[in-house]
Amino acid sequence: MKQWWKEAIIYQIYTKSFNDTNGDGIGDLRGIIEKLDYIKSLGADVIWLNPIYCSPDVDNGYDISDYQNIDPRYGTMDEFKELLNEIHQRGMRLIMDMVLNHTSDEHLWFQESKKSKNNPYRNYYIWRPGKDGKEPNNWGNYFYEGKGSAWEYDNTTGEYYLHNYSKKMPDLNWDNPELKNSMCNMMRWWLDMGVDGFRMDAINRLVKPKGLPDSPNPPTPPVGVYGYVVDRTMCANQPGIHELLHELNQRVFQHYNMMVVGETGNVDSAIAIDYVKEERQEINMVFHFEIAKNPILVDAVKFKEIQRRWWHVVEEHGWITQYLSNHDTPRQVSRFGNDTEYLYESATMLATLMHTHPGTVYIYQGEEIGMTNVNFPSIEYYNEKYTVGKYETMVESGIEPMQALNSLKMMSRDNVRTPMQWNNKVHGGFTTGTPWMHVNPNYKEINVEKEEQTQHSVLNYYKILTSLRKKNPIMVYGSYHQLYESDPELIVYERTYEEVTWLVICNFYGNKHKMPDKLEKRLRENSKIRLLLSNYYSNDKSTIKPYEACIYEIKIGDMKG
Ligand code: NOJ
Repeated sequence: MKQWWKEAIIYQIYTKSFNDTNGDGIGDLRGIIEKLDYIKSLGADVIWLNPIYCSPDVDNGYDISDYQNIDPRYGTMDEFKELLNEIHQRGMRLIMDMVLNHTSDEHLWFQESKKSKNNPYRNYYIWRPGKDGKEPNNWGNYFYEGKGSAWEYDNTTGEYYLHNYSKKMPDLNWDNPELKNSMCNMMRWWLDMGVDGFRMDAINRLVKPKGLPDSPNPPTPPVGVYGYVVDRTMCANQPGIHELLHELNQRVFQHYNMMVVGETGNVDSAIAIDYVKEERQEINMVFHFEIAKNPILVDAVKFKEIQRRWWHVVEEHGWITQYLSNHDTPRQVSRFGNDTEYLYESATMLATLMHTHPGTVYIYQGEEIGMTNVNFPSIEYYNEKYTVGKYETMVESGIEPMQALNSLKMMSRDNVRTPMQWNNKVHGGFTTGTPWMHVNPNYKEINVEKEEQTQHSVLNYYKILTSLRKKNPIMVYGSYHQLYESDPELIVYERTYEEVTWLVICNFYGNKHKMPDKLEKRLRENSKIRLLLSNYYSNDKSTIKPYEACIYEIKIGDMKG
């Protein structure tokens, strides 16, 4: 079924690093308003905002202390309403990040909850007595914080509370109907104001396993050069999660013309179908971690295998997402491409893959100009919880500090959190003050202003891709069929819709490749094959150049070979 959110091109804004208009070094809502025409000119039509609610900011806003107010560092509620209105005026939509798994420990609910065992908010969170003088179970927190446990002891009532992330982010108790009511009311409040949907944080972790049993894989430090690993499966996809999401759908989502995309770690395509199958009425699509957040670098063959599996989700009446970076991943051109010798070619090849694969496409701020990973010299420059926590556990377990840092650099979430590079002026035009985080020193070469003025720039290539998507339903609704599945370097596939087939050929790597004979024959013999887009000025049909990407159009009836 056709839906606006299937056709959408979603631009993700990490407000804190986007555009600062008051010189305090932190991006703000006014800064987004100022850049709306830029986002529109890029061709995006939905904006996803990372959390902008009140927050002590231990996890860049994912620790919310008040769901119904804007953090003053970003602006006011009036400015938010102005932003929403300006977005709608331009025919665009806005989705908010919705964090339902945990709050900040500074949220009023938690402040109340810890006061006494019979406080009305006690059961908003998950409290347990200790076991044999120790934590209630052996779970580790995902941020490698403190001694690693997912439990924190609280003196006032002599019990522990669960925190899968930071101890400043206690997990909520979704078995409590009152918590559910509070959350439903809060979500409806935003939707009634006019927001168009939610990106739901850690949505498959809301329901905890009955009895909170020990993990069979406890975090036993230290193991190997990477320190210890925390088992993240214990709270993922637990019995009851589908009933809960269906209930949220019935009580909230289905009453609005909205979209819901869930963030779901520990989910593959077989598990995902139950979250997104239309008839189950849960959520619309999920972000899986199989490509962008895979700790192992995904190769061309693996990439194809993953895409084939996720295509089945579409065939079975579900929907999927396409993204290679977000605020939790490295920069895609550094991770999957070549951010020095072939920056333009590899950034545009990766973009071609994303925009021509089935699914809703997400662009993370700065990706459209080929922003790269940052190479900070020491841990003091790093900010985000995971990198810092993991570094500390590694150093504590005897790993050399530089070795620990180097092993964490590629995947650090700070790579994508450096400020947006608007021009070649001081701090890349992000702020007139001192930026909360260092700007990537390459801002003089990589910035929006320069890309706008360069004909063959990553930015202008993105604009072509987005305008193609707006004009060609094949990119959204076309079928998907791979060729050369086992070729170790090429990614080749066809999309077909009504009378048209698109043939996409991408070289995932930086070496020259001979065009497979059959493909070359097909390209040469069918005079009606039309080249729609390529990231090279010339294309010679017998070789495929480093990171080359081509889209050919074949009208049915013209098909041969
Ligand atoms: C996923 C978010 O994307 C990430 O940034 C955050 O740290 C965790 N969930 C906890 O909310």
